[in-house]
Amino acid sequence: MEYKKKILITGGAGFIGSHVVKRFVKNYPEYQIFNLDKLTYAGNLENLREIENESNYTFLKGDIVETEFINKIFEHHQFNGVIHLAAESHVDRSIANPLEFIITNIVGTTTLLNAAKNTWKDNSNDNLFYHISTDEVYGSLGKEGFFTEETAYDPRSPYSASKASSDHLVRAYFHTYKLPVVISNCSNNYGSYHFPEKLIPLTINNIKNNKPIPVYGKGENVRDWLFVEDHARAIDVIFHKGRIGETYNIGGNNEWTNIDLVNLLCKIMDVKLYREAGTSAKLITFVKDRAGHDLRYAIDSSKLQNELGWKPSLQFEEGLEKTVDWYLANEEWLNHVTSGAYQNYYETQYHKR
Ligand code: NAD
Ligand code: DAU
Repeated sequence: MEYKKKILITGGAGFIGSHVVKRFVKNYPEYQIFNLDKLTYAGNLENLREIENESNYTFLKGDIVETEFINKIFEHHQFNGVIHLAAESHVDRSIANPLEFIITNIVGTTTLLNAAKNTWKDNSNDNLFYHISTDEVYGSLGKEGFFTEETAYDPRSPYSASKASSDHLVRAYFHTYKLPVVISNCSNNYGSYHFPEKLIPLTINNIKNNKPIPVYGKGENVRDWLFVEDHARAIDVIFHKGRIGETYNIGGNNEWTNIDLVNLLCKIMDVKLYREAGTSAKLITFVKDRAGHDLRYAIDSSKLQNELGWKPSLQFEEGLEKTVDWYLANEEWLNHVTSGAYQNYYETQYHKR
């Protein structure tokens, strides 16, 4: 079959990437979707079971930092779209080991940009390099205000500094080489297949196992939460309708202090687990704060809403309940992730062929 587009999605075995891959494979049978992932600790092919045998889907195991490999796949497959999600994504890990973040997020992004630049010599209208970024590049807000696309960059962790750097490089390739690019910066995502090192899945997992819930500092930091499928839908809209060279902010308009969020999760979990009201909240434990902990993130997504007609679809309480239900119904996934067994899936799934 002659496909209308050949799209490379990087980091498609991760949390957000797997939702994006599933959306594109299912909604666009006329596109050939390639998922390139190194399968780090955060990459899990079990996230993609429902589409892994679809004829328009191909998994490529590889590292975005490896120039020769990246050049080879661009030459061989002649992708005309790239949706770049592969990254080291956890702030606490970036504080413990910044170099890994510099290598993957900065060098890896540049390797992909070079391959796209060298392949798309004529830069036809059909080509697009879509870079997925984060609101953390804008730094930390006080009690008032929102991040807009014009907010000056002020990253404050090794993770956000590496993402900011990759955003600058993407813009540099647009200005210098006329590479057709678009960037979006999104707020905190939540939903199914979220790795339980991040606040929401970690809290759900600890409540389930009656383990302490670690809340950093006083739990006063604020995040703007968006349901992951709403992010995947925004990525779809921006990929198809976003203006070349532009940046779009994506957010949930849904701010919560960490302590209020954890308390809400405790309440939902007490009901779901048939525990007496107040049981889970007893697990809340205030621990040493994250170094350089950004106080507040809040996104103004009016450009995306007004220009491209996207808006969040779910109320937070509904999305959170759906997420809790998913984790409780998918014990096997959670057990594999916490035991490390998911890392054997590649061997069993791909080496049996
Ligand atoms: P994740 O950590 O769950 O997944 C990252 C994926 O990238 C994994 O599958 C991993 O195996 C892969 N990967 C890592 N290094 C690689 C390399 N060198 N080569 C190839 N693949 C590699 O991350 P996520 O939370 O799904 O985030 C995806 C993207 O979205 C990231 O770029 C992140 O900065 C951005 N983002 C995340 C959020 C959020 O709330 N999670 C919000 C805004 C933006
Ligand atoms: O804003 C978008 C970003 O959101 C993404 O770019 C990142 O990839 C993603 O990891 C996320 O970053 P955060 O640092 O905001 O997410 P995390 O789940 O790690 O933490 C959310 C808040 O909860 C933050 O204020 C720190 C706090 N926290 C986190 C953990 C893991 C705790 O209080 N206890 C915890 O155990």
